[in-house]
Amino acid sequence: MAPRKIIIDTDPGQDDAVAILLALASPEDVELLGITAVAGNVPLALTQKNARMVCELAGRSDVPVFAGCDRPLARPLVTAEHVHGKTGLDGPPLPDPTMPLQDAHAVDFLIDTLRREPAGSVTLCPIGPLTNIATAFARAPDIAPRVAEIVLMGGAYFEVGNTTPAAEFNIHVDPQAADAVFRSGVKLTVMPLDVTHKALTTHKRVAAFRNLGTPVGEATAGWMDFFERYDSEKYGHEGAPLHDPCTIAWLIRPELFSGRHVNVEIETHSELTMGMTVADWWGVTDRPKNALFMGDIDADGFFALLTERIARL
Ligand code: BDR
Ligand code: CA
Repeated sequence: MAPRKIIIDTDPGQDDAVAILLALASPEDVELLGITAVAGNVPLALTQKNARMVCELAGRSDVPVFAGCDRPLARPLVTAEHVHGKTGLDGPPLPDPTMPLQDAHAVDFLIDTLRREPAGSVTLCPIGPLTNIATAFARAPDIAPRVAEIVLMGGAYFEVGNTTPAAEFNIHVDPQAADAVFRSGVKLTVMPLDVTHKALTTHKRVAAFRNLGTPVGEATAGWMDFFERYDSEKYGHEGAPLHDPCTIAWLIRPELFSGRHVNVEIETHSELTMGMTVADWWGVTDRPKNALFMGDIDADGFFALLTERIARL
């Protein structure tokens, strides 16, 4: 099968960085058409820079990186420096990027690419707030039916929230954008905290990255070490959840994951539960099923895949 064409929409973030590396290391599975940066973990000026640093680390300065929306659709930006550090990519020191940022806005790149490529051939992989995707769909309603599918990291159900008691970060930051995407009619696969909180960066798994003995393996281990400090204190277990690479891993090895087709609605009114992903896991309503909401992961298989692929870079 020809590799799937994908666009990664991202707010790097150490776990976003690993997702980008996994895609770049897997050309037989995915062809990365471009990276669109969005404000999220840190402001846009840093996320677009971090995306370019990651491409350069992987020796892939040819990948076009676009800057997108610098704030959520209707709410002030909430960032997560307490998790990801001041730069968003704290941990191992990396050189400033020399590859250029593309002139075009990320939203224009999304629209132009989806109009240019054959309908049903481009998969979107959003791993930050959904602002760029929702803006593109609002500005060009013809593109949503042309998207092959959306595979996103966001939301939580049984695992509840990591940013508020009810909401996960990516959805909480821009609930209006998430609502638009979940109502778009595009085929959706969702990697919520229910899955990613089982993908933990244990010492053994981090050591496997470090033992690759390559600059990319060393950087990956350094990123894990950095954000583990916050998350293991918060959750009280060894290692931190490696959220975002679950999306790319799903495209490469879907058998590592299991979930259910359910209805998922986004809370956009109550401040108490703003951005909650209300998943009808037990089918107690007749609301239309709009998402494959994942619930489980073979974490050892996932980390084995990551290590094997990152070893190539
Ligand atoms: C999500 O929020 C960000 O901090 C991570 O990069 C991930 O996309 C997890 O809630
Ligand atoms: Ca992210």
